[in-house]
Amino acid sequence: MPAHVHVSTHPLIQDKLARLRAIHTKPPEFRSLIAAISRVLFFEATRDVLLKPVLVTTPLTTTTCHEVAEKIGLVPVLRAGLGMADAMLEALPEAAVWHLGLYRDHVTLKPVTYYNKLPAKPDMDLGIVLDPMLATGGSAIAAIDILKKAGTPKVSFIGILAAPEGIAALQEAHPDVPVFLAALDLHLNEVGYIVPGLGDAGDRQFGTC
Ligand code: PRP
Ligand code: URA
Repeated sequence: MPAHVHVSTHPLIQDKLARLRAIHTKPPEFRSLIAAISRVLFFEATRDVLLKPVLVTTPLTTTTCHEVAEKIGLVPVLRAGLGMADAMLEALPEAAVWHLGLYRDHVTLKPVTYYNKLPAKPDMDLGIVLDPMLATGGSAIAAIDILKKAGTPKVSFIGILAAPEGIAALQEAHPDVPVFLAALDLHLNEVGYIVPGLGDAGDRQFGTC
């Protein structure tokens, strides 16, 4: 496993993944599981974010505390990344959200960009691409390409499930980008789905199966 790929070992993530993968889990519970897992991964992925000192008056005294010094942009890949961004905004409401619309062509499995709401000159220190599924890696690579071309100094990726094929492709295209995951699965099937996986993450969140 490449050094910059982090797979969470948190027991609560394992517990929630079991229900996320299960075929009979309905969209309301599926969305809340995506949110819960995303919240934990967000804390793990922001472990090295820079802080600055801030003076805080408590009921007893004045003391030096710390607050986030970096500007962070969350970049959910539509549709499936949306539920991840909502959960992370609760933890860091100051984060900007840049929506990127990409869908995977069913025949070629190549990503097609249909929406890009990045500001013309994003003045962010860190852009975090959010997409629960890293399958062939095409969508993640395309999203990271867009962020880097826009001049984002640091980019990372948070996903929920990945296939080894996607990790290898991402590693080759963007070896500098840290990747945070809930699980690394076994392989892709013949139509590009992650196995054992969870099916189609967008359809299962939004009830479009
Ligand atoms: C899914 C998923 C990723 C992409 C992963 O999106 O959310 O964006 O496939 O596959 P890849 O690694 O092979 O590129 P999908 O195209 O199904 O769009 P949707 O979220 O709108 O359903
Ligand atoms: N996209 C999904 O939603 N699921 C997969 O298994 C692969 C790509």
